[in-house]
Amino acid sequence: MSEAKGHVLFFPYPLQGHINPMIQLAKRLSKKGLAITIIIASKDHREPYISEDYSITVHTIHDGFFPDEHPHAKFVDLDRFNNSTSRSLTDFISSAKLSDNPPKALIYDPFMPFALDIAKDLNLYVVAYFTQPWLASLVYYHINEGAYDVPVDRHENPTLASFPGFPLLSQDDLPSFACEKGSYPLLHDFVVRQFSNLLQADCILCNTFDQLEPKVVKWMNDKWPVKNIGPVVPSKFLDNRLPEDKDYELENSKTEPDESVLKWLGNRPAKSVVYVAFGTLVSLSEKQMKETAMAIRQTGYHFLWSVRESERSKLPPGFIEEAEEKNYGLVAKWVPQLEVLAHKSIGCFVSHCGWNSTLEALCLGVPMVGMPQWTDQPTNAKFIEDVWKIGVRVRTDGEGLASKEEIARCVVEVMEGERGKEMRKNVEKLKVLAREAISEGGSSDKNIDEFVALLT
Ligand code: UDX
Repeated sequence: MSEAKGHVLFFPYPLQGHINPMIQLAKRLSKKGLAITIIIASKDHREPYISEDYSITVHTIHDGFFPDEHPHAKFVDLDRFNNSTSRSLTDFISSAKLSDNPPKALIYDPFMPFALDIAKDLNLYVVAYFTQPWLASLVYYHINEGAYDVPVDRHENPTLASFPGFPLLSQDDLPSFACEKGSYPLLHDFVVRQFSNLLQADCILCNTFDQLEPKVVKWMNDKWPVKNIGPVVPSKFLDNRLPEDKDYELENSKTEPDESVLKWLGNRPAKSVVYVAFGTLVSLSEKQMKETAMAIRQTGYHFLWSVRESERSKLPPGFIEEAEEKNYGLVAKWVPQLEVLAHKSIGCFVSHCGWNSTLEALCLGVPMVGMPQWTDQPTNAKFIEDVWKIGVRVRTDGEGLASKEEIARCVVEVMEGERGKEMRKNVEKLKVLAREAISEGGSSDKNIDEFVALLT
């Protein structure tokens, strides 16, 4: 670490969907000569690590919770999380400043604005790094500014919301915390507070690329010191300049994927398989799981479905066994998603439209069927369908349920409809743009270089 140009601390929000893009940026910065320490707030004492290919150390700091408490307790008792984590972070940075290689900067997830105040007090260069797209974050910004009032009722007041650089958004297109007053009071405050002190940051990064959100980027560049540095999908699947960068590596704490699915995919024709996955957090209702299962079955396509252990009991009885017996489908507990999306047999991706999954589909040229559930996902789905035109969004009824007929209709449309062909062409174009952005001399690569220069 002592030979590196500068030492930078990373402070991800402790959720896999936020930690992974932090690790990926850390790898890129490490290869550009910076020494990195990733600080993870946790109730666990396990010390995760990243391979020796990088100059990256990982440290856990105490988040104020006990090992036997529910993993989601930290999302509910925010005060406890913020107070304890603030203390642990202050202690950690203070002692790191006395080390042989004191840190120069803190890169933090704006979900934890207290980190900015701490780093400023301790005289670090402070960098906010958004791991969710501008699409959602700018909605939260406008709420924080008082420039957008969250509607009181979702259904009785169906106004269209207008934001600079965005198409008009219906309430269903807004991030879930911003579509109806009072529906998620804690989380609404939580995401809006990202902007409470943001403008004191010395630099603002985002895991997106200029060509993906050009109108938004134009509007923002006049105002903030923004650098888009994405997509930070593992390099093997993008520019391949870091050939050892094959996955979102955090050894000792990641879920090991079921690699046998690749063998199963190997026996399928090109673009014939529907891949279904809803990320790390989404929990569909039992009714929705059953509708989805029946829809996939009804289309007749072969399918691969990643279903976390906690969700499996919601599938129709005998569904997994029948699919495996007749060899038309496979349900796995966790798959190597990047390898799967890169596989020639995949025809479309039925997804909750989490930002990492969206970027991965786009980087690997796979059209999507969007089944957004909450947080930024509805807004991502709006852009997938109407702006980038790389997928369709499944419509839901008044209860938020997508019927099997509707899901099947969307899957068939993407797999073999006329619009599906257009989507495939569009996603191929975005795939090229994403690769260009992160490749040598591309917009994100230049932004990363400029950023490194600021810290050396
Ligand atoms: C959360 C929020 O839900 C999302 O809206 C936000 O944009 C980021 O934080 P998550 O639910 O985890 O994200 O979804 P997503 O961002 O798509 O990330 C899921 C990750 O898990 C992807 O990197 C994907 O490759 C990986 N994955 C998923 C696997 O590796 N294997 C699987 O079987 C399923």
